[in-house]
Amino acid sequence: MKKILHIISSPKGEASMSIKLGNTVIDKIKTEYPGSTVKVRDLTKNPFPHLEEATLAAFYTPAENHTPENREAVKHSDEAIAEIMDADIIVIGAPLWNFGVPSVLKAWIDHIARVGHTFKYTEAGPEGLIKDKVVYIAMASGGIYTSGAMQGYDYATPYLKGLFSFLGVTDVNIFRVEGSAYPGQAEIALQRGLESIVL
Ligand SMILES: Cc1cc2nc3c(=O)[nH]c(=O)nc-3n(C[C@H](O)[C@H](O)[C@H](O)COP(=O)(O)O)c2cc1C
Repeated sequence: MKKILHIISSPKGEASMSIKLGNTVIDKIKTEYPGSTVKVRDLTKNPFPHLEEATLAAFYTPAENHTPENREAVKHSDEAIAEIMDADIIVIGAPLWNFGVPSVLKAWIDHIARVGHTFKYTEAGPEGLIKDKVVYIAMASGGIYTSGAMQGYDYATPYLKGLFSFLGVTDVNIFRVEGSAYPGQAEIALQRGLESIVL
């Protein structure tokens, strides 16, 4: 039995390729681990705020010195980090938008990448504090980036992989639906993406 956290960052609902891909990953996890539970965090319905001066001030104030204002400023971050730490598996739906991730996903990332909580600096260098978790990234793009002329233009996948690796996750896996914008290719791209899922 696993605790799964599903992060959604596409506003397209039932038409979303990244949500379909993420849901299929989750179905496979549930088949492998019967009784697994899923918590859905839809960032498009409940977006995280941009980091403000008060948020940064609270981030860099030790928790034991937090004022009520500091505590209020970090409540979104505390909640997001608690959800991650509580999960065994994190499935992140990531539409490719303008070669990067949608800003709602970036806003969430800015709340979860927090010094002293999800990473720290030691004399030996940075150390990620998100241990013993598996991340599956369900990436959807209109274009094709694993081969051809656009190879190298997908900055989202290396970014997400690098970020989670920095935060301590050693098991980061990417599945893709790509090429859905090519005329007549949407269903084929989706099918190919779903069939590529091997846990
Ligand atoms: C605002 C926006 C920007 C996009 N930028 C890109 C892009 O840079 N490269 C690409 O291949 N597709 C791009 N697309 C197409 C999406 O990646 C594609 O529709 C994908 O299926 C989105 O995931 P979703 O279906 O889960 O929403 C963009 C779509 C939107 C709405």
